[in-house]
Amino acid sequence: MREIFETLADELRRAAAEGAEFSNIDDDSVEILERLARELPPDETLPKSAYARKTPPQDDGKGEFIDDIEEVKFASASDIVKTENQNRTQKKLKVVNKTIDIKPIPAPKKFSLPDGDKQTRWNALREIVLGDKVCAEHLRPEKKIVFGVGTLDADIFFCGEAPGADEEIQGEPFVGKAGQLLTKIIGAMGLSREQVYIGNIMNWRPETPKGNRPPTEEEMAYCLPYLKAQIEIVKPKVVVALGMTAVNGLLGFDPSRRMGKIRGHWQKFENADLMVTYHPSFLLQYASPQMKRLVWEDMMAVMERVGIPISAKQRGFFLPKE
Ligand code: URA
Repeated sequence: MREIFETLADELRRAAAEGAEFSNIDDDSVEILERLARELPPDETLPKSAYARKTPPQDDGKGEFIDDIEEVKFASASDIVKTENQNRTQKKLKVVNKTIDIKPIPAPKKFSLPDGDKQTRWNALREIVLGDKVCAEHLRPEKKIVFGVGTLDADIFFCGEAPGADEEIQGEPFVGKAGQLLTKIIGAMGLSREQVYIGNIMNWRPETPKGNRPPTEEEMAYCLPYLKAQIEIVKPKVVVALGMTAVNGLLGFDPSRRMGKIRGHWQKFENADLMVTYHPSFLLQYASPQMKRLVWEDMMAVMERVGIPISAKQRGFFLPKE
């Protein structure tokens, strides 16, 4: 039953993604669909289709394109849709490969930090990263290397994937649209950006002629020691990996990994507990109450793990109204 429902939903989403604003469904069918929707148990998985978006993918340089690729790559709908998704992925990545010439990425640089307190070590690390020639030579003209921000005593370390257009201008992670949503999520947890730590796997915005693209494994491998060193200095209780690219960066690439399976479950990263959840820019595209609720449940698990009390009001966020 669910399969029929999902196939129909996929088809409607596909049509919507292609610009259709109306669909010819008669009243009887709408009633059947509504009944089916009521009777189905709540869906705990990712939206099934690459077409599951309100608007067609935007390649406006603001971070949508990256999620389009990520989403298509990890979509898992029916076989037909899957085949179609894979073609779309290949095409997109080919476009990227054909048009950009990424400068070779060397092995990660060896570095050591001075003894001393957290601030001394963090200052030294920041200086190393901001002075890194490999990071610098991958920057667009006039743009900045992006290093983590927040308190060095943070219990919670949010880890994203790579700076986008706004971040490379300001030299700060998560300051664009996705960042504003992350800031709201942090606020809903009763915290401010200054009370957590926010970093990225990547310190530069991956080069691509237009929009954003996910970092390559080599790019992530180059920057990962810098992220690990930040985690090692901050010593958070919990690392929150935002999105599949962040997970692949932290835990190593695994094509069989599925967001719908791993989110919400505790794992380990170094000495911290690791929670995986959806990337805020993914949420910006799939802002259904169910999706927000899933992320919120992940955040409540994080709050519990670090000992932040959760009010009754917070427990009810994004639940359907009675
Ligand atoms: N997305 C990320 O993963 N990191 C940022 O800093 C901004 C957008």
